[in-house]
Amino acid sequence: MCGIVGYIGKNHAKEIIIDGLKRLEYRGYDSAGIALAREGKIETRKHVGGISNLEKIIQDREYDSNVGIGHTRWATHGAPSDINAHPHSNEDQSITVVHNGIIENYVELKEWLIKEYGVTFLSDTDTEVIAHLIGIFYDGDLHQAVNKAVEKMRGAYAIAVIAAQEPDKLVAVRKDAPLVAGIGEGCNFIASDIPALLKYVRKLYLVENNETLVVTKDDIKIFDEKNKIVKREVFHVTWDADAAEKGGYDHFMIKEIHEQPEGLLETLNRRLNDQGEINLDGISMDREEISRFNKVYIVACGTAYHAGLVGKAAIEKMARIPVEVDVASEFRYRDPFVDENTLFIAVSQSGETLDTLAALREAKRKGARVLSVVNVVGSSVARESDDVFYTWAGPEIAVASTKAYTTQLMCMYLIGLYMGKTKGTIDENYYRKVIEELKEIPEKLKTILTQEKKIAQIAKKHYKNNEVFFIGRGPDSGVSYEGSLKLKEISYINSFAIAAGELKHGTIALMEEGTLVIALATQDRLFEKMVSNMEEIKARGAYVLGITKEGNGEIEKQTDEWLYIPRCMDELTPLLSVIPLQIFAYYVAKERNCNIDKPKNLAKSVTVE
Ligand code: AGP
Repeated sequence: MCGIVGYIGKNHAKEIIIDGLKRLEYRGYDSAGIALAREGKIETRKHVGGISNLEKIIQDREYDSNVGIGHTRWATHGAPSDINAHPHSNEDQSITVVHNGIIENYVELKEWLIKEYGVTFLSDTDTEVIAHLIGIFYDGDLHQAVNKAVEKMRGAYAIAVIAAQEPDKLVAVRKDAPLVAGIGEGCNFIASDIPALLKYVRKLYLVENNETLVVTKDDIKIFDEKNKIVKREVFHVTWDADAAEKGGYDHFMIKEIHEQPEGLLETLNRRLNDQGEINLDGISMDREEISRFNKVYIVACGTAYHAGLVGKAAIEKMARIPVEVDVASEFRYRDPFVDENTLFIAVSQSGETLDTLAALREAKRKGARVLSVVNVVGSSVARESDDVFYTWAGPEIAVASTKAYTTQLMCMYLIGLYMGKTKGTIDENYYRKVIEELKEIPEKLKTILTQEKKIAQIAKKHYKNNEVFFIGRGPDSGVSYEGSLKLKEISYINSFAIAAGELKHGTIALMEEGTLVIALATQDRLFEKMVSNMEEIKARGAYVLGITKEGNGEIEKQTDEWLYIPRCMDELTPLLSVIPLQIFAYYVAKERNCNIDKPKNLAKSVTVE
């Protein structure tokens, strides 16, 4: 949830670390801090709130140091404050730590440190325990002291540590929290995520779980949990720095909404061979294997879970196999029916969502085959899966997920088609027809993006609403949940989504004069049913904004406002119908002056339970 950065090299560390933190601020912005080592001393400066607050207090002078660590926080233990801000140090400030994750046994360790060593704690954080632990084990060798401390720690953590007496190195450890190392010329970096380093390096080491790094300006040594040096392949980043910048848009969210055609094309084309056949990135699932699966589980959180809802309809239709979709935080504790005949599909943009990771491990423990659909290359979910099917959406910076969602849908369709074709539950015509239609989606999506101004006008009329309903049938009901989440998380409007057929069983009681209802009616085979649902709510005074396919002119009689999306097969409409909902949510939030890219109380990847 937090972002950490470390630098050691020939240049002054301060600016480089601050710049890296700014690119990680989407991971948390409750407080920020920096620690710089020089001439046997470590200077720590930290402040509650965003990085701009920190910049204000350190612009007073040049910090002539070539090694440092920095942190941007999303509070878990200890409320946002200057004292709870990272970095944290031991009593004589000789050891300083930044940390992303949670030390689950920190209370126990704290009591032990107080009882055995009389340590005085300044903050309410779990992280301060790490600094004191390393401090008591320190005897001139930071690497050894960190190893001893790690032996005592339980939980998820990525930490970076510096020692006043060893300003020529920094040590970092990764366990169930993201960490990458950047390979520079005469300098080296560590960070929670790639965007922090893109401005400086293109070569990275993807750090594995339970690995420790000893980083100097000329070298990065990687040690496994047995303290053996390991050789690691260099990972070359293809993303350009601009990809991580706004590219002229007001917010990352609207930029990423406009990047969806490319993301979908990239995600599709990488899987179509010259004969137009789907190749699942070499994931070998032959007919015998697929036929052995008697159940598919799609498990995820938030928007990724909503992609699973659409995936269920597609895979069940195409592969004729029962699919259950579950939120990860429930799946992991309810002893689900999972065994070696289960295909478990984890979906995650960041690949670091702890609930999804834990659900994946639970499924693995029960013998399932684990396939994950992930956007961040080399992330934990990807690495712990039997197979990973990447969404090629590029870096998604805005907390509200958009392009990751549509590329996740694309992957769901490709998995359904591949399984259906291999099992023989779909014929060649249908297979070819769906692939041809998928190829047309990016261009069709662009035509919806040209309606941005019109949708912004509609948002301008309704942004004062404090209650909005989303309804749909079939795949549209799955998309209505996603539309509702987008609006909720960036505009703080209390929106509610429901399958349209469910309305009359209770929720319709909430309909009154002017109640705004966004009705998705893109399913030709269910259009009549949706018309009667719209008539029902209109009869109670609701104001209906209808979204349907071109040619369904009936909608203009049934709604107060309407938007058309280009025609495509019913099962593929979620790839298009979600776009007006993303844009609507964006402009409502903009009218309400919300912090669109960094909504309150949220963070891009949720690495705690
Ligand atoms: C969606 O806009 C939110 N950021 C959130 O619901 C997100 O989808 C959820 O936390 C899952 O994240 P993941 O895809 O990185 O696992």
